[in-house]
Amino acid sequence: MSSELSLIDKAKFVAAKQASEYVKSGMKVGLGTGSTAAWLVQCLGEMVRENGLKIKGVPTSNRTAKLARQVGIDVITLEEAKWLDITIDGTDEYDDELTLIKGGGGAHLREKIVATASDRMIVIADATKKVDTLGAFPLPIEVVPFGLPVTQGLIEEMLTGVDVLGRDIVQRMQGKKPYVTDEGNFILDLHLKRISDARQLSLVINQIPGVVENGLFIDICDVVVVGHGDGKVTVRDITNDTSEVVRFDVLDDDNIFVDISD
Ligand code: A5P
Repeated sequence: MSSELSLIDKAKFVAAKQASEYVKSGMKVGLGTGSTAAWLVQCLGEMVRENGLKIKGVPTSNRTAKLARQVGIDVITLEEAKWLDITIDGTDEYDDELTLIKGGGGAHLREKIVATASDRMIVIADATKKVDTLGAFPLPIEVVPFGLPVTQGLIEEMLTGVDVLGRDIVQRMQGKKPYVTDEGNFILDLHLKRISDARQLSLVINQIPGVVENGLFIDICDVVVVGHGDGKVTVRDITNDTSEVVRFDVLDDDNIFVDISD
């Protein structure tokens, strides 16, 4: 790994490297989106090119699809895969129950579809993603462009009836234009500050016409792999109720992934 990498990138890399060990030949693998998931795609690409790993990858975004092809992973659609052995993805926040907030990268709709269609979902993260209570990270909601102000108004009204600390809603922009997802929709970021009941919130949000999907992942994630800048990785499996610590030697002369960007 390049010595120019920041501690946070080293943390993401070792988490991805450790999680790549869950992937075996013959598997159909959901490939997440974001900077941490990009490390995972690089690790899997290396295993394909150099160790003969044979997998089919189902990307959760157009940018992950492009990267996966670049590194040599055989990419198929979810329709072709039908069901996946495993999905590995990053997260914006996770709590003790492995409830997640995802979608900071704008891909949570496809990410949720792919993760739900998998036997297991492994989340990879650096230690900054762990929270006691979800909600400091704005909750992304994918909404259809049609009638956007009406949908936003209904979300505002709904928020008055749920236990959250903040209620600001901001439409995600890309420069001066609305951010558009791979599915052609918009994103509203809900600045809730504290989410007391993620399950209730997720249910009520998704009942609003115009809402496509929210970024809360509940009862989807099985394992969290957390990397640290010094090479330490903790793996917590809530299905088996196990926790282990692994240590990687973070080598300065290993430069295979220095060109990575997301
Ligand atoms: C993409 O839509 C997101 O869900 C990402 O998986 C999440 O934001 C984590 O991204 P980073 O690994 O870049 O922090």
